[in-house]
Amino acid sequence: MPIQHPSFGTLADDRVIIFDTTLRDGEQSPGFSMNLEEKLRMAEALAELGADVLEAGFPIASPGDFDSVRSIADRFSKDGPVICGLARSAPQDILRAAEAVKSAARPRIHTFLSTSPLHMRVKLRMSPDEVLQAVADSVALARNHVADVEWSAEDGSRTDPDFLCRCVEAAIKAGATTINVPDTVGYALPEDLARIFTMLRERVPGADGVVFSTHNHNDLGLAVANTLAAIRAGARQVECTINGIGERAGNASLEEVAMALRTRQDTVGMRSGVVTPNILRTSRLLATITGFDVQPNKAIVGRNAFAHESGIHQDGMLKDRGTYEIMTPESVGWTNSSLVMGKHSGRAAFRDKLKALGYEVGDNQLNDAFRRFKDIADRKKVVYDEDIVALVDDEILRTHDRIKLTGLTVASGLHTRPMATLKLEIDGEEQEGMAVGDGAVDATFNALRAAFPHEAGLRLYAVQSVTGGTDAQARVTVRLEEGGKLVDGQGSDTDTIIASARAYVHALNKLLVKRERTAPADYAPATQASGAHSSAA
Ligand code: KIV
Ligand code: ZN
Repeated sequence: MPIQHPSFGTLADDRVIIFDTTLRDGEQSPGFSMNLEEKLRMAEALAELGADVLEAGFPIASPGDFDSVRSIADRFSKDGPVICGLARSAPQDILRAAEAVKSAARPRIHTFLSTSPLHMRVKLRMSPDEVLQAVADSVALARNHVADVEWSAEDGSRTDPDFLCRCVEAAIKAGATTINVPDTVGYALPEDLARIFTMLRERVPGADGVVFSTHNHNDLGLAVANTLAAIRAGARQVECTINGIGERAGNASLEEVAMALRTRQDTVGMRSGVVTPNILRTSRLLATITGFDVQPNKAIVGRNAFAHESGIHQDGMLKDRGTYEIMTPESVGWTNSSLVMGKHSGRAAFRDKLKALGYEVGDNQLNDAFRRFKDIADRKKVVYDEDIVALVDDEILRTHDRIKLTGLTVASGLHTRPMATLKLEIDGEEQEGMAVGDGAVDATFNALRAAFPHEAGLRLYAVQSVTGGTDAQARVTVRLEEGGKLVDGQGSDTDTIIASARAYVHALNKLLVKRERTAPADYAPATQASGAHSSAA
């Protein structure tokens, strides 16, 4: 019997709901913080990708989280995704989430509580009966505010099966419309997930009227396999993130789940609404925003995912692509790198090119990006799509950064101590720094420290070329650490020193976001015993 869902109406039997938690479970992991503008941009990209539900954040965690959930809620109409805010079971969490999603055309509250013996005893210090009561109370409170309520049994995969059934029954009775059973610690095997979902669907009264959801962490590298096993056992919602980002080893990767469903439709028989040709650009957008590239061999979106190196494979590919390709690169958004434009290309052609690459820009952003494009076209013989993506990522995504690089002069050479003079605009005010160093990059970074004093330590400095050739743009990654928190920044330019300065400045901007996020006054831990703990799972 088709499920009637408050947000999705009659759910077709073969439809899997894609619940994207890049902006919550993904964003809360080390180094992945995003500011409000970045979250909004990411939310739009996720909506264009066809995600059905966006978990936009954890509103009680900080005023910044609250504002971003509220802004994302404001952004979409009825045709857009469901916007979800996370809450522990404490009333103040649920009320804050309700307030944050209030303006959404399709709001959801997602509330969770641990149910495993270890978590209940050590973390919650609650008896099973107290947990059961808190499940019922929290779901009922959320239902007073929205019709679409998801309840999660945190550490569900390590929960006693009978107790899990009782908790799920209590949540359904109290009005939950989606029941999520997370493998919070990434411990389960595919057969465990299959057993859990089969059991819940068979044993819990009311199970046929709700959507079961699966949320898998990747500690054993099994998150996607577990997700597929859960789907095959009746789960109809999958919780996942772009590039698989998330706590520790991450969450199930959205792109892998979507392509597994599409490629193995023959066996799984379920489909998602993901617009798969948008996958690559969404993955790249996230990498650019967060400064973390995916590893080259990452399935679907890694640089090597469709590269065929061995002679035998290349020979096979020439005869028939099907010999070594189970899906086409185009189906997930890869296109051949093409020679695009030169210094005589005009603004209209440049705007068209941006559109083809997936960027919709306003006039001011277009002007800034076009100025930078002309600058690169003057210095570089040929300008490739990759060059344009790199410059747009630098120029457009950074317009709301608090620190901007406005000037840099470096003098270095044989038998001279390299010296850098650098200008920054910090919250609209100009600051200048001058310093010497062991090399041109070192002098530049020292000048940056002089212009914007900070204690963060440099943990990684890496240079890659965006395309081939000696005039290629350099793409630099800088990783900084402050108080145990890591941030990555990226910058590109045909001049490696300028690219390095941009990357460092990007990392500093990320650090500012991180500082705001973790300011102690920002976070009011829930005091009620029911599920209060100081960080989301
Ligand atoms: O991993 C987990 O258990 C979670 C819950 C909050 C759903 O992220
Ligand atoms: Zn999680």
